[in-house]
Amino acid sequence: MENSTAIVIFGVTGDLTSRKLIPALYHLNQSQRLPHPFYVFGFARRDWSDEVLREQLKQSIRSVEEHKTREDTPTFLENCFYLRSDFQNWEGYSRLKYELVEKQLANVLYYFAAPPDSYLDILQGIKIAKLNQDFAGWVRVVIEKPYGRDLSSALALDKKVHEVFSEDQIFRIDHYLGKETVQNILVFRFANGIFEPLWNRRYVDHVQILMAETNGVGNRAGYYEQAGVIRDIFQNHLLQLLTLTAMEAPVAFTADAVRDEKIKVLQALRPYKGEEALHNTFRGQYVSGLIDGKRVVGYKDEKGVALDSTTETFLAMRLYIDNWRWAGVPFYIRSGKRLPKSVTEIVIQYKQVPLSLFGWRNMAGDAPNQLILCIQPDEGITLTFGAKAPGPINQIAPVDMSFDYVSTFGTEPPEAYERLLLDVMMGDATLFTRADEVKAAWRFTTDILEAWEQAGVKNLPVYEAGTWGPSGVDDFIQRDGRKWRNP
Ligand code: BG6
Repeated sequence: MENSTAIVIFGVTGDLTSRKLIPALYHLNQSQRLPHPFYVFGFARRDWSDEVLREQLKQSIRSVEEHKTREDTPTFLENCFYLRSDFQNWEGYSRLKYELVEKQLANVLYYFAAPPDSYLDILQGIKIAKLNQDFAGWVRVVIEKPYGRDLSSALALDKKVHEVFSEDQIFRIDHYLGKETVQNILVFRFANGIFEPLWNRRYVDHVQILMAETNGVGNRAGYYEQAGVIRDIFQNHLLQLLTLTAMEAPVAFTADAVRDEKIKVLQALRPYKGEEALHNTFRGQYVSGLIDGKRVVGYKDEKGVALDSTTETFLAMRLYIDNWRWAGVPFYIRSGKRLPKSVTEIVIQYKQVPLSLFGWRNMAGDAPNQLILCIQPDEGITLTFGAKAPGPINQIAPVDMSFDYVSTFGTEPPEAYERLLLDVMMGDATLFTRADEVKAAWRFTTDILEAWEQAGVKNLPVYEAGTWGPSGVDDFIQRDGRKWRNP
């Protein structure tokens, strides 16, 4: 890519910048995929200078580069600048404009990596200083989740964003869509003829989507207390995985064609209000337990968590997509912090054969045919089925056919942020959420949040850290005659 380009990171002093954005930009720079020249402008409240910023960025690059010092780090860092300002100080934005114009930039990318409660101020600052105008090339904006905290706040934010940018300039990021294995869901489904005919209510008994983490809330309790699994993971990452799994084939692999199909899935989600919401969701909160053999504190003992907190750190849900393909097929969604393993996977559970000739049930359980799409950490796809075990009697053993990313392609999938940042600079919005998608996701989620609020539960069921959630969660699925797959 040619033409001078800058990324302006609002909230550059935060965790996201050092853990994800800078390493991703650095790798893109290494592989000569960034436009030239390329500048990073950090905008934040802390009393830093260009030098402090560069030193911090150097540390973050080093930590992901496994302590290798690269010769070209200085060149990359020389083009990084810091601008100190409060988000409500409009003068700071004018200074930023001055600096950007002085560099004679063609393209500018604004990245909202600051706390979400500052988004409206930042938009106002951009508007006042006319940071969205006067550049010869493109101006785009990337907005991190959470995009609002319920339907009405998401609509208010979106209205403000549209006062400053047009929809084709707005890239609402969900980093799950940048993961190779998430994109592979579409390739697997729509580049192969053999699975699609089996991808519907006639053959599928149910679908499970799991996103488990061994991590606790770490130093993010302030944010997490206000979010819980439902806002942090469900409304965005899990619903995105659901739409890709359940959508119809798009007419083309273009941003709008793909998103046109995804939105239909969200619109077909059976809405849950009041009792229905309570019946189809199951929340929990972790207490102290063992993770990898080490004792960890319970959620209420984490720094910044209220003693009477009812924020869920575990959530299971039963969803229905009321359309012709999926009518009657339950989608079970599960996510939690401090579970025994960090793993994200989608399991398509196929129906039993109509008549059991081999006494399969007694020998191999109820679930011989599963298609498991492992998103992380062992990226790959596995199909399980029954095979005859050698010997004179008809004994059946569960076996599998597996595809493993690393051994097949000989390389780890790249970081999600690399792909997504590149797509923004190329102007490709396929892997970003459109305004109507965000709205539909919040509409569904907000009904549940309201039902929970009305129910006014004082204590959530608890689970020990290092276990697969509160004991009642097994009944939640067993009531339907099914069981969780705990990898
Ligand atoms: C983030 C959530 O969006 O995703 C975190 O805010 C979560 O709570 C993280 O830990 C998980 O992402 P990944 O890529 O590590 O699975």
